[in-house]
Amino acid sequence: MVTASPASILLASNRGPISFTVEDDGTLTPRRGGGGLVSGLSAIGDEVDSVWVCAALSEGDRAATRQGLDDPSVRMLDIDPGTFARAYNGIANSTLWFVHHLIYNTPTTPVFGSSFRREWASYEAYNTAFAEALAENAAPGATVLVQDYHLSLTPRLLRELRPDLRIGHFSHTPWAPPDYYRLLPDDVGRDVLAGILGADRAGFLTRRWAGAFADCCEAVLGAEVDRDALTITYKGRTTRLGVHPLGADGDFLRERSHRPDVDSRLATLREAVGDRKTVVRVDRTELSKNIVRGLHAYRHLLRTRPEWLDRVVHIAFAYPSRHDLPEYREYTASVLRVAQEINDEYGTPTWQPVILHVDDDFARSLAAYRLADVALVNPIRDGMNLVAKEVPVVTDRGCALVLSREAGAYEELGADSVVVNPYDIIATAEALHTALTMPEDERAARCLRLAEASTALPPSAWFLEQYQALTEDQRG
Ligand code: G6P
Repeated sequence: MVTASPASILLASNRGPISFTVEDDGTLTPRRGGGGLVSGLSAIGDEVDSVWVCAALSEGDRAATRQGLDDPSVRMLDIDPGTFARAYNGIANSTLWFVHHLIYNTPTTPVFGSSFRREWASYEAYNTAFAEALAENAAPGATVLVQDYHLSLTPRLLRELRPDLRIGHFSHTPWAPPDYYRLLPDDVGRDVLAGILGADRAGFLTRRWAGAFADCCEAVLGAEVDRDALTITYKGRTTRLGVHPLGADGDFLRERSHRPDVDSRLATLREAVGDRKTVVRVDRTELSKNIVRGLHAYRHLLRTRPEWLDRVVHIAFAYPSRHDLPEYREYTASVLRVAQEINDEYGTPTWQPVILHVDDDFARSLAAYRLADVALVNPIRDGMNLVAKEVPVVTDRGCALVLSREAGAYEELGADSVVVNPYDIIATAEALHTALTMPEDERAARCLRLAEASTALPPSAWFLEQYQALTEDQRG
């Protein structure tokens, strides 16, 4: 196996920048991903040697790690599949994701019994594997940027192995308020917080999530929080809080959304929509995205405001996510069912009220963005929600944004959106009506301001900001 040489900047995330598929003849095809971290890292420049430590997620990835990746800047960890599944599905995506997005139905879930303890032990093992790989690959005094809830124990474990490193942790999710966070078994709740406090800096997408993290550290660990200085002191060590609101990549989106593959999908959608108005939503089908209530709100709009019959189309793209979890499969089934009910109830031979797609197609998403009169972003809770930031940049129609006050994007975009309580479907239906009837000039002016706010901190600047903060702390 090729092990990467010591690097001065290291990234750690569950999902890495590359994945492999096994072809029928047994050969491996690599696919490079995009996303904020990839463009962020490239902004640092080639002169800095980097290593990205990530997990092998598929059979193809595992085969590639066994054969030796020919990319020295990526180190994929071949974690035992059972350990990985318990850590990823059981702890990261069920337990921690559910806590931070307030998803539990508390009379029945969660149940913290012996299978949970097995999952937790796997999560510890998985975080230890990352800490060990980072420790092995880091040059003296290197900077390490650890990403997200999959790796909340890694900063402390890594510090124990390598006290010389500068360590940052970044949470891409919301953070639960203390009363809800206390659902976790006491030792687990403490370990997650203490794990992140092993970092020199803990970064969040909004002030609200950073504040909730500080509240949990105070309430659960008894840590000392200085809210003006944005520091948390625990067991004699101080961790700084950072707020870095990731924005959309405006240049990339504007260029990408005018390529021929997007144009051809736009033509297909246009034909279906005709001269009607559109309400567009694009999500991964995650329990936090609130797609079903969005459909109920749209149905309520058609029911209570018949002037919209045959005058509007709801374009809803609900892409597959985490189908290993039964809750996600059931949720996808209810999205399909409610969309079908609406089409059965209101559709005519020439009008399909809901156009729903559940297969992933980025070019088609961009085409829908271009066609958006209204974008519906109504999550129960969301770390940021980049769709809210992307649609205003791409739309050809100067769209209005209906935005949940529980999305991180609300902090920056709330002022120019039609804001909703995501649980209130009647209010959401009214918000859709307000957005659909907003005067053209007001809509255009708001959309311009939304696009500007959305691109204030594109991925490369977002990444550099965190990197520089860590480097400056050390100098200062
Ligand atoms: C969402 C969250 C991210 C997280 C990602 C993982 O996008 O906002 O915080 O890293 O899911 O998704 P995955 O498909 O790897 O489970």
